Amino acid sequence: MARATQAIIDLHALRENYQLAKSQAPNSKAYAVVKANAYGHGVSYVANALAASADGFAVACVDEAVTLRNLGILLPILVLEGPMDANECQTAVDLDLELALHNHQQVSWLLGVSGGAVHTYIKVDTGMHRLGFAVQDVPSVVSQLRQAAMVSDIQLMSHFACADEVGHPFIQQQIQALDVLAPMKLPMSLCNSAAVLTLPQCHQHTIRPGIMMYGASPLLDKTGPELGLMPVMTLQSEVIALHDIRAGESVGYGQRYVAQQDSKIAAVAIGYGDGYPRSAKNGTPVLIRGQQRPIAGRVSMDMITVDVTGMEVALGDKVTLWGTGLSADIVAKHCDTIAYELFCQVTQRVKFQYLGS
Ligand SMILES: Cc1ncc(COP(=O)(O)O)c(C=O)c1O
Repeated sequence: MARATQAIIDLHALRENYQLAKSQAPNSKAYAVVKANAYGHGVSYVANALAASADGFAVACVDEAVTLRNLGILLPILVLEGPMDANECQTAVDLDLELALHNHQQVSWLLGVSGGAVHTYIKVDTGMHRLGFAVQDVPSVVSQLRQAAMVSDIQLMSHFACADEVGHPFIQQQIQALDVLAPMKLPMSLCNSAAVLTLPQCHQHTIRPGIMMYGASPLLDKTGPELGLMPVMTLQSEVIALHDIRAGESVGYGQRYVAQQDSKIAAVAIGYGDGYPRSAKNGTPVLIRGQQRPIAGRVSMDMITVDVTGMEVALGDKVTLWGTGLSADIVAKHCDTIAYELFCQVTQRVKFQYLGS
């Protein structure tokens, strides 16, 4: 039988999670964030699954937007980092894309296009210092765009640096930075998943939920299921070897795990060549026969080893690395990362199976 390593993507759960995001902000449009191959879930399936219910999509770059249009997606598509050159502005006109604009160069590229009008989002740097115009520069950019024939709509947009930590003082600082722009009465887009869930006063015109749609938590102190989200990706493999070892014997590369007692070790067919993180420490849980069991030993390219001492296990038993029954948020903590990265790192060797399309 073929290698059993697979990612099962539950599109019904995806749609439910999108609806949960929408229900938090019933008066806002909700653009589903599907950049980076829909956070590793497979953008063609995810976009098609949401096409009937989403208000729009958001991607990082024009190439990703072109992919969506080629899939036949007709909904609004917001390009979060905006154009990378003048040609991409023309593509935006031709494909009716919505563009974030975060610097003067992008504005001048846009002013050179013809043949249509673009919905723009002026990105405001409210303190994250990654992208965006300084607050004091925004009014002049707005008036420049207002006079431009190739600009149909203008929104303001910003992004929170610390929304994952509820009550973090920097959140209020960023909100207050926008106060001087309020008299312009422009529609705004401010909220990622964390802000969707915790900052209702910021929902404004358009929200941009990403990770919550995929069932993982945007908040540091909660898991996805604790927030009522359903896991979308379940990463699975199976037991391919079982070994009884004596107390004092070691497992895997570098002898990183040394058994404290006589133990049973299961080898599971998944490793960093599949995107399972090499940073997973001893003790990172996996799910076998409904029980959480700890990783014992270093993750290798094609395998992990798990301590299954004291339980019934057989070759071919299914093993869940994350997903239904084991939140990716918990696994991520053991690997000093976030579920976003776990999802994005799953490699092409893993077979993807889609449910509920
Ligand atoms: C500008 C912007 N908006 C929204 C999102 C979605 O964020 P999240 O996945 O935390 O909901 C991202 C993701 O990185 C982003 O860069």
